[in-house]
Amino acid sequence: MRKPVIAGNWKMHKFVGDSVDTAVDLKRSVSGATHCEIIVAPVFTALKSVADRLEGSNVSVSAQDCSTEVDHGARTGEICADMIADSGAKYVIVGHSERRQFNGETDQSVNAKIRAVLQHGLRAIVCVGEDLRQRESGDAERVVAEQLAGGLAGLTLADMERIIIAYEPVWAIGTGKTATPEQAQEMHAFIRRRIAGSHSRECADSTRILYGGSVKPGNISDLMDREDIDGALVGGASLDAESFASIVNYK
Ligand code: 13P
Repeated sequence: MRKPVIAGNWKMHKFVGDSVDTAVDLKRSVSGATHCEIIVAPVFTALKSVADRLEGSNVSVSAQDCSTEVDHGARTGEICADMIADSGAKYVIVGHSERRQFNGETDQSVNAKIRAVLQHGLRAIVCVGEDLRQRESGDAERVVAEQLAGGLAGLTLADMERIIIAYEPVWAIGTGKTATPEQAQEMHAFIRRRIAGSHSRECADSTRILYGGSVKPGNISDLMDREDIDGALVGGASLDAESFASIVNYK
């Protein structure tokens, strides 16, 4: 059985005070939830404050990115994965499409970041997904297969136990245009088959694959009904504690 994961990516939103307030409200609203893992990803400056306030609760903290470097050194502006662990966070989102689009993230840097994350004892939420042009030209599966092959290259079965995949079609992010549950299910099943091929059937069966792209309280349960959808990576609707809590409580 794959335990569902509902993760909120706060992107570049919220000062420290608002991040902590939202986290505290969320903690209160989801304190009884045991059916899924719950994760929030604040900006770097709020990581430690949020992690401190959520300590001992059922809500974990994730960073939104990290350096490709495993060791500390002269990399101005970068944050090493062990500094993220030091803040109390347990996860790092790697390869989000916004970083691929605006920050030159490649499958090679995604792979290096995953290795840094795992080496420092954290878990990675690895994002893949095609853009509109790629979907319309029938290239979606090829693009996702390439991102998986590059991003997960050389990872062992033990490494894969600490990886969550997030399928986020770029055309559905922040657009209000959710992939239909059928479209999402189809790609999730494809991703699972690729992992079975690159790793093993057992690994594929135990890997959680989240859907991301305009997930809201009103569409989460239809998505969660699908066999290969194991949770959600939520952007806009995770910024408000009440709305995110109702996504967590989708059942
Ligand atoms: P939205 O839920 O705002 O579409 O964002 C999805 C996303 O990018 C989560 O990482």
